Amino acid sequence: MDSILVTGNGPLTGDIPIAGAKNACLTLMPATLLSEEPLTLTNAPRLSDIKTMTALLQSLGAEVTSMQDGQVLAMSSHNIDNHTADYDIVRKMRASILVLGPMLARDGHAIVSLPGGCAIGARPVDLHLKALEAMGAELDLKDGYVHAKAPGGLKGGTVEFPFVTVGATENALMAATLAKGTTVLKNAAREPEIVDLAECLRKMGAQIEGEGSSEITIQGVDRLHGATHPVVTDRIELGTYMLAPAICGGEVTCLGGKISLLGAFCEKLDAAGISVEETAKGLKVARQNGRVRAVDVTTEPFPGFPTDLQAQMMALLCTAEGTSVLEEKIFENRFMHAPELIRMGADIDVQGGMATVKGVDRLKGAPVMATDLRASVSLILAGLAAEGETVVNRVYHLDRGYERVEEKLGACGAKIERIKGQ
Ligand code: EPZ
Repeated sequence: MDSILVTGNGPLTGDIPIAGAKNACLTLMPATLLSEEPLTLTNAPRLSDIKTMTALLQSLGAEVTSMQDGQVLAMSSHNIDNHTADYDIVRKMRASILVLGPMLARDGHAIVSLPGGCAIGARPVDLHLKALEAMGAELDLKDGYVHAKAPGGLKGGTVEFPFVTVGATENALMAATLAKGTTVLKNAAREPEIVDLAECLRKMGAQIEGEGSSEITIQGVDRLHGATHPVVTDRIELGTYMLAPAICGGEVTCLGGKISLLGAFCEKLDAAGISVEETAKGLKVARQNGRVRAVDVTTEPFPGFPTDLQAQMMALLCTAEGTSVLEEKIFENRFMHAPELIRMGADIDVQGGMATVKGVDRLKGAPVMATDLRASVSLILAGLAAEGETVVNRVYHLDRGYERVEEKLGACGAKIERIKGQ
């Protein structure tokens, strides 16, 4: 297993290119199952999760061709000859459940393994299933698989989500495009990835209104045609790299970044004393002066503070002036980066879903363990400004969601290298 060696090396200056969004691409790819015509995605990120989704779609009979060094995905699902998404692939990536709605909508049957939980929580899929049942699907759970049927096709219905769920909104949105009649999704997720998916489905001929608000209405159509669609910029990668100059000092422009992608995150950076300026190139980020100020953070669905940036924000607040309280309200176990940051000298007290961070002058480099995707990158951010060397182990987590981290940060002056595992 590879590791990343980071050595605290002072302020960063330069530009960081931001890739297409992993979490948009992972729902745009299954959309190919809704049409027999080709769907091509551009600005696709080069990540291991995309390779996993590619393998899953190919196992169903879809053709997926990666071009231009992985930035273009040409897909075609004219002959789906297998309707079973196997546990071996699904267990590697929860987003695999997103093939269920499209397969069911297009062919009236699908068998998809239930994804296991993961490090950050149990992460059930009950709301995905309830949404499809509201559209007339008949579901049976057998041997860890969902057996779904919709003889005569799905029917429009009203889906009321008890709380915001990104994935279930995406599954229901895709399924509803081919359902007979009108579907209304209430308390729908508002993330930019949902808006991006709706824009792509509309290019394919879907009739959708209200994406980005908490109520989305879909008029089902008989069939969808092919399209070409650029994957929206990755707001989580964007926020992650904005925190690098915030932690180290200096000035970095995140190319292609827009404040509209980040909701409350930019407000919190401003409160912490980090300046963010939107320019034609992207978002220019610098520390206003001296130390960072402590701020309190509560994770919420978009446009609230993203849970996927909580670990990275904690890395910043470890050396802020004062005490910050971070409340994680989306997942039940998303503070696994805290014990690793404590190994680096951070002062953090975790009680259930609350973490209290008392700022210290400087962290000290240490060997640390990545436990999940966002925790791994928060340890790299902490290592950028720590005294001495930090070795982040198990970086396969990192490669799921961040392409070429050492290149992107190294180009701005960071001392960072990948150590090949034996
Ligand atoms: C998506 O996961 C993202 N993943 C996550 O990013 C992100 O953290 C999350 O949305 C929240 O923004 C992808 O898009 C591939 P949810 P998802 O359904 O759809 C519970 C990353 O780091 N829930 O909004 O799985 C669930 O357990 C990843 O890139 C149910 O109880 O998240 C969680 O507590 C991590 N039943 C909460 O809802 C369900 O049927 C929100 O989950 C579905 C969800």
